Amino acid sequence: MEQPWESLRQQFYQHFGKEPASMWQSPGRINLMGDHTDYQGGLALPIAVPYSTWVAGRLRDDQTIRGFSDFGQEDIHLEAQFVPSLVRQKPLRGLVGFVAATWDILGLEQGIDLYIASTLPIASGLSSSASLSLGILATVRELFGKSVLPEKMVPDARRIENEYLGVNSGILDPLAIALGRADFALLVDALVQDAHPVPFDYAGKGMSLWIIDTQTPRTLASSGYDQRVWECQQATHMLGVSFLRQATMKAIRGLTDSVLQARARHVVKENQRVRWTVSAAQGGDWDRVKFLFWASHWSLSQDFMVSTPVLDQTVMWLQEMGVGARLTGAGFGGSVIALGDVVQGKEIIRRLTMAYTDKGWQSPRFLEVARPAAGLHKVIPDNIKG
Ligand code: GLA
Repeated sequence: MEQPWESLRQQFYQHFGKEPASMWQSPGRINLMGDHTDYQGGLALPIAVPYSTWVAGRLRDDQTIRGFSDFGQEDIHLEAQFVPSLVRQKPLRGLVGFVAATWDILGLEQGIDLYIASTLPIASGLSSSASLSLGILATVRELFGKSVLPEKMVPDARRIENEYLGVNSGILDPLAIALGRADFALLVDALVQDAHPVPFDYAGKGMSLWIIDTQTPRTLASSGYDQRVWECQQATHMLGVSFLRQATMKAIRGLTDSVLQARARHVVKENQRVRWTVSAAQGGDWDRVKFLFWASHWSLSQDFMVSTPVLDQTVMWLQEMGVGARLTGAGFGGSVIALGDVVQGKEIIRRLTMAYTDKGWQSPRFLEVARPAAGLHKVIPDNIKG
């Protein structure tokens, strides 16, 4: 079977008549536990997934930045000296926005040829945007002889989204993608902006994970997300703490505003659920992990109110089948993740497809994550061949 990197290399050659000098694979991520905690200094438990953005590049002798992609985005044709005037029009849009932001942050003047391919669904809550930022950053940094250590790239990936694209996102996505480790989950601590691998060996126990992309539009994702960030800040002011991570349940029960109380309750309990999920997985108590998935989903739905009827109903159907399930990421549409026995896979797909059809909903898309994938890494074709 042809590997994505082979086709990436061929596509690059077809467009530019030369071999790429640098190729990187930048995965997407799902979050297993700990949503809407990162911007309150909290904990999260993501994994990288085997669906990725692939970036190939080669320096040019002039100042032209030329780029193509295989996912229907506009071609890039930009002169490096025009980047400053382009970035003054922030927020930037499209592929050219990611590239211009990278040139601006790194202060580059030389041009490049770039080809970008993707096997990662866009706008499904799998962090395709952070994946793209990191793939471009790594390729460009390597070509310009700069360090590709994650600690150099994670802050810039976040800046691209927050400052240049105008998307209010936290540290979870870039950390998960940059530091993801095959076969492990990552325990993210947003207070210290770091993460370390922890065992999450569902594959070794005859289980699998599925991403169920509900294919529902995430129209409120941006405004709803900003509002939740603001509400959590209000709650911290009332509680007299810098981050909700530091608040106690006793203090939260004393909040008079019931909406802020519910938001804060979710964040504090979700942090606890991250720790419990890590220890349950370490102890091989997968029934408890499933239970924690459900508890997290209903907290995101009822206390944090970032779910939708389609996400709720999907989780309900999976819960009836004894499959661990929760929305993943920001919510407001996007994907549900499901944790069950490998043998349940076919039944999950059959039942959900039928149930969606009965409701007259567009069929969901199923993506299996048989095991956690590696994070951002350089593609070295000869090693892969050898
Ligand atoms: C989005 C943001 C992350 C995080 C999640 C919710 O994916 O980009 O920083 O806040 O939502 O957990």
